[in-house]
Amino acid sequence: MPLLRKHFLSLADFTKAELEELLLLAIRQKALCNSGKLERTHVGRTLACIFHKPSLRTRVSFEVAMHQLGGDSIYVTEKEIGIGTREAPQDIARVLARYVSAVMIRTFQQDLVETIAEWSTVPVINGLTDLLHPCQVLADLMTIKEHRGGLEKLTVTFIGDGNNVARSWINACSRFSFKFILACPKGYGVASEFCERALGSATELYEETSNPVEAVKEANVIYTDVWTSMGQEAEARKRLKDFEGFQVNESLLNKAPSDAVVLHCLPAHRGEEITDEVIESKQSLVFDQAENRLHAQRALLFSLIPPGRE
Ligand code: CP
Ligand code: NVA
Repeated sequence: MPLLRKHFLSLADFTKAELEELLLLAIRQKALCNSGKLERTHVGRTLACIFHKPSLRTRVSFEVAMHQLGGDSIYVTEKEIGIGTREAPQDIARVLARYVSAVMIRTFQQDLVETIAEWSTVPVINGLTDLLHPCQVLADLMTIKEHRGGLEKLTVTFIGDGNNVARSWINACSRFSFKFILACPKGYGVASEFCERALGSATELYEETSNPVEAVKEANVIYTDVWTSMGQEAEARKRLKDFEGFQVNESLLNKAPSDAVVLHCLPAHRGEEITDEVIESKQSLVFDQAENRLHAQRALLFSLIPPGRE
């Protein structure tokens, strides 16, 4: 019986207990994986991965995770299926559900992922939209939990755009009740309607500032992401200028507590939002974080898809 009998579209759809269980499973599965003891629980199961945007980590980690569980994966591009142009999303969702055991989709509109989920009788996973990136933050939480032993008394400072990753962080801070600070230039914050919905009455958990130095003073985790997300390429030049002074570099790191760690979801634009020195520093966990995409998503697949036949 799957642990989570629903889709994985947003962290906000899950309780703290469900997310905690998922994180513990991910950590247990990482240990099993590293000792060669993972079980092929999902033989005969198939994951369809639909991509409307490029990907290294999400594609490879989902495909490898499914294979590690004994299952198969199929990579599908928008060019092939033409969602909404060649065929209606509700038809695609129902047809896919007759062939595969779960669908992972990376696309622009959150609405599209929700429509697919509404019509799908198999679990649908959000592999990134313009709005959210829940799989990323799941792996990030796992990385912090591994490093600190827990998510209590935590301050996460995000230096950069109030983008899909930042919004998923707001959902996470609301569930786990830790402090999340976004330092961004004016006009690049998270919409107040989103914050209100995500935080409810716990508004004290989220803070927005345009002062990166102040923002890192109490940080346990300093997080950054590209200033221009996929789909915003036309704004790249303006953003490069607007985000001047928001680079995670050694000088900023020196303003944070000495045991603060640095995370970046990758891909990084080295020399823009983060320097080589910081990515390569002892405080950087970015490659452990990237590895944890594999373990966190394997735990997710394990939890969403019923076991297969051996
Ligand atoms: N962090 C992340 O989602 O990477 P990709 O875009 O390469 O999948
Ligand atoms: N905010 C970035 C994340 C990439 C993983 C983007 O959407 O391009």
